[in-house]
Amino acid sequence: MHKDVKQILYTEEELRRRVKELGSQITADYYGRRPMLISVLRGSYIFMADLTRAINLDLTVDFMVVSSYGAGTVSSGQVEIKKDLSDSIEGRDLIIVEDILDSGNTLYYLLEVLRARKPASIRLCTLMDKPERRTKPITADYAGFTIPDAFIVGYGLDFNERYRNLPYVGVLKESVYEK
Ligand code: PRP
Repeated sequence: MHKDVKQILYTEEELRRRVKELGSQITADYYGRRPMLISVLRGSYIFMADLTRAINLDLTVDFMVVSSYGAGTVSSGQVEIKKDLSDSIEGRDLIIVEDILDSGNTLYYLLEVLRARKPASIRLCTLMDKPERRTKPITADYAGFTIPDAFIVGYGLDFNERYRNLPYVGVLKESVYEK
């Protein structure tokens, strides 16, 4: 275990199993359709790679870079699109793929932007859901794990851009972000 991690919340094996389940659920729900999975970078890059390979459909992928946190642990409420989608979403069935749904600020804003481009449908898939932190009326259609309000890293999730490559999800030691 990494020295800055206090506790492992989900092991590689637990993540793998849950992502497979989400993939099967999406495969069943979208049977006969061709959804477009939109990965909200950077946090979702590992989840996106594993989730898309767990879905047995003729899907397409696209990517957006959105930033809301800056260098800290609390959402600023300011969301900026740093890289937009490459393709048109008009008439498409969108599945937005996020690593974590926290205050809901990012998705609240993003949904507004995407709805204006007239997709056929939009659903949200988040690996981690922290409902107790929510300040915007956003719920996930697919959620991997509902987690308590702790600062977690790994499997794509960062603190100041570090720890994304940990293969598990762990709770960061307070001493790391209280410095
Ligand atoms: C994280 C995460 C979500 C957002 C969720 O992104 O990937 O996009 O915060 O928080 P919210 O529900 O409070 O808006 P972050 O801005 O940390 O960027 P990253 O994906 O590059 O890690």
